[in-house]
Amino acid sequence: MLFGTARDALRGLLADGSTRRCWRRLWIPSYFCQDVVASLRSTGIVLVTYTDDPENPLTVGNARFLPGDALLVVNYFGLRGMPSYDRLLPDTVAIIEDHTHDPWSVWAINSEADWCVASLRKTLPVPDGAVLWSPVGHPLFSEPALTVDRRAASLEKLAAMALKALYLEGLLGDKEFFRRLAISGEGRIASGDVSGITEWTRALLRTFPTGTWRERRRENHRVLLSAIGGIPWATVLRPQDAVDVCPFSGIVLFDSAERRDHVRECLMASRVYPTILWPLESLALPGIPPENVDFSRRMLSIHCDMRYSRADMLRVAEMIRLI
Ligand SMILES: Cc1ncc(COP(=O)(O)O)c(C=O)c1O
Repeated sequence: MLFGTARDALRGLLADGSTRRCWRRLWIPSYFCQDVVASLRSTGIVLVTYTDDPENPLTVGNARFLPGDALLVVNYFGLRGMPSYDRLLPDTVAIIEDHTHDPWSVWAINSEADWCVASLRKTLPVPDGAVLWSPVGHPLFSEPALTVDRRAASLEKLAAMALKALYLEGLLGDKEFFRRLAISGEGRIASGDVSGITEWTRALLRTFPTGTWRERRRENHRVLLSAIGGIPWATVLRPQDAVDVCPFSGIVLFDSAERRDHVRECLMASRVYPTILWPLESLALPGIPPENVDFSRRMLSIHCDMRYSRADMLRVAEMIRLI
């Protein structure tokens, strides 16, 4: 079932879970996007955190489960393999997996979770879009209508994407047009009522060569991993022990927050725009361990998707090495 965003899919699912399945609490991993956490608040379900991070396998260490609990599990940066829940959880807990960072992983395809969600706009060139499915066949609720606000936000983002393409071809001199539209559209892309997907994104999703693009992402990651190897103050996170893993991006961890900030500024000055996934400076929930905040301050996500070539990966790695 398709939605405007993953936040819509999760909000719709939590509303359905509270009314029809007596869900009362959602366990959220401590290392997670705080904007998503903030938006889930509006559902009224109680949000609690369990300790988890991208460097370690899932353990749900500190969670004490009660009847009416649901658990959100994230495949961080597409680096994880399918966990074995039997040893971790009572079977009363509803499992919701977030496959945003690699919706086509072996784990996602063979999942045994109650529900899976993936935002599609992180791996595909679409202005909106997310998918929700139930691997174990729970009945789905009805797909929400597209809201007026979301239609407008998606159109702004779509216009920004088209203008950016012209800019990158050298046909448009001013970045400001598309930047303003992109920021405005992004600011409104998950707000208001739960929304369905736009008709243009639904149509676009049928056209993409996702397998070929995923292979490029994997190959680019391999190149980046080996090119950054040997820099004493930076490491690239490696896939956890799993089959057919395709990382979302190059997650580079620096030896200090200061070095990360310096590298980020230098890359941006050279028009390379890494991202921080996720900033944990302002927290939507208590109980985030200081180690998570430290990781967030020392990490950079370097894009390695189908827009980039092997030469691009080598160039970025060389820039980082020489900074
Ligand atoms: C792992 C993960 N889940 C969910 C989301 C939210 O997706 P959306 O923007 O479609 O609501 C994001 C966005 O960054 C994400 O990275």
